[in-house]
Amino acid sequence: ARDRRELAEARTKLGLTGGPGAPTLALVPTMGALHEGHLSLVRLAKKHADLVAVSIFVNPLQFGPGEDFDRYPRTFEADVAACRAEGVDLIFAPSADVMYPPDRQVGVSSGRMGTIVEGHFRPGHFDGVLTVVLKLFNLIRPDVAVFGQKDAQQLAMIRRMVADLDVPVRIVGAPIVREPDGLAMSSRNRYLSPEEREIALALSRALREGAARRTPSEIVAATRAVLDAAPLQVDYVVLADPATFEEVGEDHAGEAVLAVAARVGTTRLIDNVTVTLP
Ligand code: PAJ
Repeated sequence: ARDRRELAEARTKLGLTGGPGAPTLALVPTMGALHEGHLSLVRLAKKHADLVAVSIFVNPLQFGPGEDFDRYPRTFEADVAACRAEGVDLIFAPSADVMYPPDRQVGVSSGRMGTIVEGHFRPGHFDGVLTVVLKLFNLIRPDVAVFGQKDAQQLAMIRRMVADLDVPVRIVGAPIVREPDGLAMSSRNRYLSPEEREIALALSRALREGAARRTPSEIVAATRAVLDAAPLQVDYVVLADPATFEEVGEDHAGEAVLAVAARVGTTRLIDNVTVTLP
């Protein structure tokens, strides 16, 4: 489906009437350029609902000036084929003018959590993410939506939005899918030259080193040491509360997200791992 009318038709065809006995629907929102990480979300979505929808939309609202909106990979035919092969029931791939009227004014504000860590380096990014995700929820009306832990702060922000705004969608998180050598799968990996791809391995290696330490300061220092030794630009290394993304204190116990962002050449990469502090 490409627009509201086609989406309504597709929903009717699938029996998504909302009444008793109607099938349940899970949504996997994506920006396309689908890889195994995305497809693992589709497989998980199937376990949570009768039918699965995938949205494919490169959301201009979540890209800052000077970011990669124009060069973001667009592989629509291959994405449709991959969705078909996975048995996806509905693909929603709107154009920007279907999603955003020229006179649009109102959007979701991501609050303080949208300004820290990843949000500090990408001002306005999480407002754009939450606005498009809420619109996709309202248009597609899924019972469940699946998001990857790869974008850990995004997942936390979406859980926060659903709680704060009483959005009637159940949020499911999915584990990070990695290449055999540890690199987290990402649509942006295809920007990397073979040399840069080798350098990019420092992110997952740094997280493994960090996760092997026991205290917050040791964890962050060990992670940073690996990144500092590599020819890349570090945006941040942070050990954060998984729900709020506030940096945890030295006395923190329980789960925390060790998150990194770095630029390899002109490509910005993020990765994270969950650690449990004694
Ligand atoms: P995109 O980067 O295409 O990612 C779509 C979904 O796939 C996200 O939930 C992301 O966390 C997940 N994902 C990406 N790489 C993954 C990996 N290696 N392992 C597991 N999951 C992975 O995230 C977005 O698009 C957009 O911000 C969106 C939510 C669609 C809003 O525009």
